[in-house]
Amino acid sequence: MTGRPSRRQLFGYAGAAAAGAAVTGGVVALSNEPAAQPTAAAGPEATRVISPYGDHQPAIAAASPKHAELVAFTLLAGTDKADLGRLLRTWTSDIVALSAGRPAPGDTAPELAVPGVTLTVTVGFGPKVFGLSGLTDRRPQGFSDVPAMSHDRLQPGWTGGDLLILVGADDAVSVVHAVRRLVADAAPFAKPLWRQTGFWNSTAPDGKPVTGRNLFNQVDGTGNPAPGTPEFNSTVWTEDGGTTLVVRRIKLDLDTWDELTRSEQERSVGRKLSNGAPVTGTAEHDELDLEKRDADGRLMIAENAHARLSHHSENDGRRIFRKGLNYVQDTGATRESGLIFLSYQANLVSQFLPLLARLDAADALNEWTTTIGSAAFVIPPGFSKDGWLGQGLLS
Ligand code: HEM
Repeated sequence: MTGRPSRRQLFGYAGAAAAGAAVTGGVVALSNEPAAQPTAAAGPEATRVISPYGDHQPAIAAASPKHAELVAFTLLAGTDKADLGRLLRTWTSDIVALSAGRPAPGDTAPELAVPGVTLTVTVGFGPKVFGLSGLTDRRPQGFSDVPAMSHDRLQPGWTGGDLLILVGADDAVSVVHAVRRLVADAAPFAKPLWRQTGFWNSTAPDGKPVTGRNLFNQVDGTGNPAPGTPEFNSTVWTEDGGTTLVVRRIKLDLDTWDELTRSEQERSVGRKLSNGAPVTGTAEHDELDLEKRDADGRLMIAENAHARLSHHSENDGRRIFRKGLNYVQDTGATRESGLIFLSYQANLVSQFLPLLARLDAADALNEWTTTIGSAAFVIPPGFSKDGWLGQGLLS
């Protein structure tokens, strides 16, 4: 496919590897100067740069960003494997620049590129990519679309997608700016299908990292495998260093949720609202006691409690790695609230789908939650300084 000239072609491009950077544990200290800024970014903030390089796309195992935007794209008619390669090489250059706080090539608002905001970009390929000529035998084992569940009320405007970018940062302006650049550079090949904006807070008032809360006020993420552990690695990474991602847009009915007593709310999950501890324990990371009964002989973590039904011990050891983003969608004076549920797993079919089906059939939370969007993507491995994102698939 021959697209119209991109801004990059019009403005020219100086090369992706302009930044010399010293890498320390995934965080790079920049050795070159970013674009001139009205105020000096000195001190610890200046090193809050997540290296774009590595075996895996870096955002997955990193702490959740405060702000994030996902854009799913539809491939334009005629976009082929070679075009995708062109786009991914361009996006790689953009990602290297934007992560370092430098403007991307052809940037029309270069001052909006700032370092120190932990900016990351994650890219994924939707099912249709594996239907393109030359790629039909490259669909990873264990990747499929997610079938609609009985409780789903999927809206086309939030569902599917051939490509994905997920941009995160601790600064909302930086996210919007990076997304704008990446979307502009995709224009010859793909157009946005949906966009979702979310936010998350996993920092306590004293600055320490904590498990964040969703808009039900639940501590959400406690049961996750911890990044860097063997359990995390086997849950998330495929052999080549990639993974798969499921995106579910789940509407939360806060009005009916608020009609419950606090103990009813806690019973629906089996964990306390105060600190996320199991209702059978006291501290957040205490093990769930799935056998414990109260004075009346009732199971303290109910049969249909979300934490029981989704627990690996009740699911033949299946685990996933969840990273939620809260969202609000305002239409005039009306607000919808929800969770952009993100699940990473090496094998979507064997790890995620059985868990989803189980929750769809019996989860107590179903009464207050409705899934209105759903999409699945292959997340390719990371790239090195002399490589590009998606190279293994598209070169
Ligand atoms: C809006 C919908 C959802 C909400 C509000 C929600 C909330 C929660 C909460 C509060 C916990 C307990 C704390 C924790 O371990 O993180 C939890 C655990 C969990 N949830 Fe969800 N969840 C939702 C949807 C889902 C879906 C769709 C899945 C998978 C298909 C899922 C899978 C899990 C898993 C695997 C755990 C960990 C269980 C454990 O090992 O202890 N959740 N969720």
